[in-house]
Amino acid sequence: MRVDVKADGRRVVQAEAIYLPGEIALAKGESLTTPWLYASYSDTGLNGMSHHFHGHVRAAILPSEFAAKPRPIHLNTWEGIYFDHDPEYIMAMATQSAEMGVERFIIDDGWFRGRNGDKAGLGDWFLDESKYPNGLTQVVEHVNTLGMEFGLWFEPEMINKDSDLYRTHPDWLLAVDGYDQPTGRNQFVINLQNDDAFNFLFERLDHFLSAYNIAYIKWDMNREIVQPGHEGKAAGQKQTERYYALVDKVRAAHPNVEIESCAAGGGRIDFEVLKRTHRFWTSDNNDALERQRIQRGMSYFFPPEVMGSHIGASHCHSTRRRHSIEFRGLTALFGHMGIELDPVKETQEEKEGFEHYIKLHKALRPLLHSGKTWRLQTDDDAHQIQAVISQDKSEAAVLIAQLAMPTNALSGHLRIPGLDADATYKIDVVDKPSNFNDIVNCQPLWTEEGCELSGEWCEKVGLTMPILDAETALLIQLKRVS
Ligand code: DGJ
Repeated sequence: MRVDVKADGRRVVQAEAIYLPGEIALAKGESLTTPWLYASYSDTGLNGMSHHFHGHVRAAILPSEFAAKPRPIHLNTWEGIYFDHDPEYIMAMATQSAEMGVERFIIDDGWFRGRNGDKAGLGDWFLDESKYPNGLTQVVEHVNTLGMEFGLWFEPEMINKDSDLYRTHPDWLLAVDGYDQPTGRNQFVINLQNDDAFNFLFERLDHFLSAYNIAYIKWDMNREIVQPGHEGKAAGQKQTERYYALVDKVRAAHPNVEIESCAAGGGRIDFEVLKRTHRFWTSDNNDALERQRIQRGMSYFFPPEVMGSHIGASHCHSTRRRHSIEFRGLTALFGHMGIELDPVKETQEEKEGFEHYIKLHKALRPLLHSGKTWRLQTDDDAHQIQAVISQDKSEAAVLIAQLAMPTNALSGHLRIPGLDADATYKIDVVDKPSNFNDIVNCQPLWTEEGCELSGEWCEKVGLTMPILDAETALLIQLKRVS
């Protein structure tokens, strides 16, 4: 994209698809259809722009057949057990997950042959019978008996050189002859223009989706595509088209299966991907503070329901920071919520926390997954605030995250636009940090007793902001009373 100011003051935006050198050559009379460019005009700033994009995603992008279904709470095994798979233990994890209110249980990376670390196995999409000597059926049935859906991880487009697939088909790499492909997380990309490779991947996915009651695929993508080549020519665009074709074929054969584009590494997060998938995993970094920033970025273009957001362990694996269950729980609340840890190893106190935020998410998800998202500002950059207001303006949830120490001694005002100016709202704190009342002698009275204010007052005058410690958050709810 190029954004420029012309000599006469006009603003110009140009956008183009990036094709690699020599990738596309049009013969006389031939035409080319580029990817869609989505643009929006807003006279109400970036919030207005996001409302347009979110509305468009909901009305015209997302696969419609799942629109009415509440998005189930996940338990994903990755940060709980990584590559260490023992079916008995996994079933114990599932039992505990169901007790906490989880609705979908997903086995992540590590279940297939040769996959004991991230250096080998990608491509060998056969159950590792040394880890699962009695097969996968008993695990799937256990999960289903507990009332949860079952999901399974794949990374179809990728291959490790240390795999039977590569040893048999070294020519399936997406590469330009004579150039060594650089690795990304020890892996390479499979050339989906190769029909044999494409058919093999479809057959493997189809096999698992037919043999087991799988409701969900976590479809990973852990590296960028670099120097893609097919038959001596650059092949970036065609690879992407064939990836769409593979997803489409899987969906046509298994229309009830939902797919996550787990695109942390490979960047397959865009509206074209979302036409055929149901949500995104935005990053491997599950630190609640980092996640606040990641989720803020995501919110400009995507509504909360398509963004996976999981509560991780108190000691974050990617940053080594520690966060309270309140901050982790509230941070995960404003997306499609899940839990990313081993519940068997967690303390009773933590488990009660997970249960609490799962309940809260279930109560709020009809609002969060259909309402209008507003990013709110105060005078303090250390605040990050997001409101979701129902389309009929009858209720709202507002999350105040304190990212760092307050900049000023007094915290200023929280002003909430987008409500019904003439209506009266009852405002209550729904969830707060455990030390909320220890921080200062006196938090604003409304945080204790609630208050009633008009929509106009909320927008123009606002509420006195409470004082929060760094890396904590507060959830408030507004309900129209008259
Ligand atoms: C990257 C994802 O973001 C993780 O959640 C996990 O699925 C790993 N890949 C597995 O290799």
